[in-house]
Amino acid sequence: MSSSSVDIHQDRILILDFGSQYTQLIARRIRELGVYCEIHSSEITESDFEAFEPNGVVLSGGPESVTEEHTPRAPAYLFTKTVPVLGICYGMQTMAEQLGGRVASVAKHEFGHAAVQFHAAPTIFSSLVDDEGTPLDALDVWMSHGDQVEALPGGFSRVASTETCPIAAMADPDRHLYGVQFHPEVQHTPRGAEIIDAFLKDVCCCQGLWTPDQIVEDIVSRVRAQVGDQNVILGLSGGVDSSVVAALLARAIGDQLTCVFVDNGLLRFEEANQVMNMMTHASSNALDINVVKIDASETFLRGLEGVTDPEAKRKVIGNTFIKVFDAEAEKIKNVSFLAQGTIYPDLIESGGASGGKAHVIKSHHNVGGLPEDMKLELVEPLRELFKDEVRKIGLALGLPSEMVFRHPFPGPGLGVRILGEVKREYADILRRADAIYIEELRAANLYDSVSQAFTVFLPVKSVGVVGDARRYEYVVALRAVETIDFMTARAARLPYEFLERVSSRIINEINEISRVTLDISSKPPATIEWE
Ligand code: XMP
Repeated sequence: MSSSSVDIHQDRILILDFGSQYTQLIARRIRELGVYCEIHSSEITESDFEAFEPNGVVLSGGPESVTEEHTPRAPAYLFTKTVPVLGICYGMQTMAEQLGGRVASVAKHEFGHAAVQFHAAPTIFSSLVDDEGTPLDALDVWMSHGDQVEALPGGFSRVASTETCPIAAMADPDRHLYGVQFHPEVQHTPRGAEIIDAFLKDVCCCQGLWTPDQIVEDIVSRVRAQVGDQNVILGLSGGVDSSVVAALLARAIGDQLTCVFVDNGLLRFEEANQVMNMMTHASSNALDINVVKIDASETFLRGLEGVTDPEAKRKVIGNTFIKVFDAEAEKIKNVSFLAQGTIYPDLIESGGASGGKAHVIKSHHNVGGLPEDMKLELVEPLRELFKDEVRKIGLALGLPSEMVFRHPFPGPGLGVRILGEVKREYADILRRADAIYIEELRAANLYDSVSQAFTVFLPVKSVGVVGDARRYEYVVALRAVETIDFMTARAARLPYEFLERVSSRIINEINEISRVTLDISSKPPATIEWE
């Protein structure tokens, strides 16, 4: 519970996860619409459900089929409560089947755009009107399903259909139960947010309490209550999450916070200076931030000598970081808390949030990677937030937008972008090449249109010609990806002229590089990083 004046968790939506790749997207949409929500397992117990006290429940989509036995179902008690429910795709199908309707597999999986025709306009569709205020009779939506509802359960009426899906939406307004076969949460359903908004505000009677300013107030008061007059230490990486934690904690507890910024020799071009400047800039925004900068690049690079295996490199970097950080923490008096930038998806993905079913692909280093003998208590002010919420809060706290919208950078830094053994020489070359690539992306207004872009150093030599002389120099690869969740990604289609300009600048300005290549692999089967 918050101790600030407004309880921003008062209105809350429970999302039951059936394993859809879009479950987090549903949660992000609901939060964007100003309502707090959490993702839980579809097997949530009745007592946990009661304790959560949801204003409404959303049943997510999922990869399985309700026509098969032993596939997940909504908890049986759910439909005996008076709580409103919105079932999406699999969620609609299981609701239909559990309440006495019938679901069948269709011969052809329907995937992509579809036009739904409305036959009625119950509450969740009532905001869908044209410019003159006339209710829409059709809507462009995104479909992805192999099953569909064939017979409605008792009390429901058919609300919408498509050419191939006779029951594309169903409703029992008296019991506040709604189902849509399409996905209102994805961008490809252009007016989907209005449908979700009507469910939240008109059916579940939620207010829009979940706003960046209110979230900041809430976190600040909770941190003050947790920390009291004790001191807190924070490992500042210069990434969005730890910078926002720094700004939040500075607002909450001022000089009880000490940030430690470790230069591991594997940072991007000028990164250490940029981070220190940003924190000074944040300080001029009435934030009082103590930052200690430690140049530990020698220690890291020495530890990496002769290490070529990617996971072994990660371990060396992680362990060295902990050693350096601990040594610094010991110098600061009376520290009782360690702050971390753990965010909500980290907890979901490491199975710590709810035991959600969304398939675990990556385990996150922020969770579970702490030293076992750590005596400090954790402060994790972002643990309820999605990345886009962290960014909005960063802006609300006055952090520069260039920093807030910076691409993610892995903890091991350039260590996983230099293939094989890491050497200072390689890191220096890579930093310069990467700076050119990023500078050109920004100049061409492409930086914000890709999710992550960087350069990779390949320790092989390739031939080039300068004047009459042949030279054998290193190769770099350019990587740019588009992704929503970093679990899957596709290579960004950058303009050819742009790529040519970057290549020509890198080869002409950096003597140690003779060739620039482009990585066009998708994830899966490739990954975003090269190691
Ligand atoms: P991959 O390469 O797994 O990357 O497709 C997915 C996202 O995770 C980042 N990444 C890491 N981040 N420590 C981190 O903090 C790591 O060891 C690590 N490996 C990959 C990567 O930059 C991308 O955003």
